[in-house]
Amino acid sequence: MTGRTSALDGLVETPWDRRVFGFATYEITKASESLFQTIRAMPGHFTLRVDPLTPKGLLHQYGFYYCDTLIEPYCAKEKFRPVFDARVAAEPGFDPERAAAMCQGVFQYDRFHRDFHIDPAKADARYAAWVREIAASGRLYGLWFKGEAAGFFGCQGNKLALHAVVPSFQGRGLAKFFWSAVCQTLFEEGHAELVSSVSAANAAVVNLYRSLGFSFRNPRDIYHLFNPPDGPIDQATSSQRICPGDGLQYQQISGSKTDRYQDQNRTILRP
Ligand SMILES: CC(C)(COP(=O)(O)OP(=O)(O)OC[C@H]1O[C@@H](n2cnc3c(N)ncnc32)[C@H](O)[C@@H]1OP(=O)(O)O)[C@@H](O)C(=O)NCCC(=O)NCCS
Repeated sequence: MTGRTSALDGLVETPWDRRVFGFATYEITKASESLFQTIRAMPGHFTLRVDPLTPKGLLHQYGFYYCDTLIEPYCAKEKFRPVFDARVAAEPGFDPERAAAMCQGVFQYDRFHRDFHIDPAKADARYAAWVREIAASGRLYGLWFKGEAAGFFGCQGNKLALHAVVPSFQGRGLAKFFWSAVCQTLFEEGHAELVSSVSAANAAVVNLYRSLGFSFRNPRDIYHLFNPPDGPIDQATSSQRICPGDGLQYQQISGSKTDRYQDQNRTILRP
C-alpha cells in the first residue's frame, strides 16, 4: 500500500460483468464529483448504490439513471416460519447448466433487465454466469415438485444469492415450500441469520420472504451510467477520452473495437 490517491480512487472493476457484456464494467465504491468528472470521458458501464435519501441532482447532471431499489431480506432462526409440502424437495448439487438454462427470460425486475442500455439476452447471460459461479463456490439446490425440476436456489454461506422458479411453476403458491425447505436446511446447519438481496419492485418475492418471517433493511437505490465503448455519450467531452496511467492499464482488445480499462492492483468486490 503506497497511500497514494488517484483520480480513480473509489472505482472498482467488475470483471465478471465485463466478460459477459463485452465492455468495461465498474462499481463506484466511493462517490465524489471529481470521480464523476473523471469517468464521464471513460468508456464503460458504472454502477452506483446510494441511500434512497441521497439527493440525486448531481447524479442526473453526470448522466446517471435509475435502475432499481434493492432491499435486504433477513431472518433470524427464531423468527423463521416455514411451511412444508411433501410433494416438494430441495436437493443440493443441481446441474449448473440446467440452472443456467432456467435463467433465460426468467429475471425481469433486476437492475440489468431494467437498464435500457443492456441487451436482455446479455442480462440473462449475466445471471447464467453467476449461477455457474455459485455452483462452483457455494451451493446450488434444485427445486423439485413431484420429481420435476421447478427451479433453482443458489446460496453462499448464509446468503440466499440467486433463486428462481421457472414460469410454468410460478403463481401456484409453491415458492414458500421451496424456500422453506432450503432455509430450514441452512438454519439446521447452524446459520443464525439468513440474508438475501431483492428488488423492492418484485412484489412476489417480497411477499414470499415476508410470509416466511423475513424483515427488510438497507434499501439502496441503484444508478447506472453508460459510456459506449466507441466514445462517451457526452459530446462535450468526446475529445477528452482519457487513458488513465495511475495503476491502470489501457488495452485495445485485438479484433474488437472494445476499449477496456484493466486494473491489476485492485481487489475485486462481489456483485
Ligand atoms: C419470485 C418467485 C420466486 C415467486 O414464486 P411464485 O411461484 O411466482 O410465487 P407464489 O405463487 O408462490 O407466491 C408467492 C407470494 O407472492 C404473491 N405473489 C405472487 N405473484 C405476485 C405478483 N405478481 N404480485 C404480487 N404478489 C404476488 C403470492 O400471493 C404469494 O404471497 P402470499 O403467500 O402472501 O399469498 C418467482 O416468481 C420467480 O422465480 N420469479 C422470477 C425470478 C425472480 O424474480 N427471483 C427472485 C429474485 S432473485
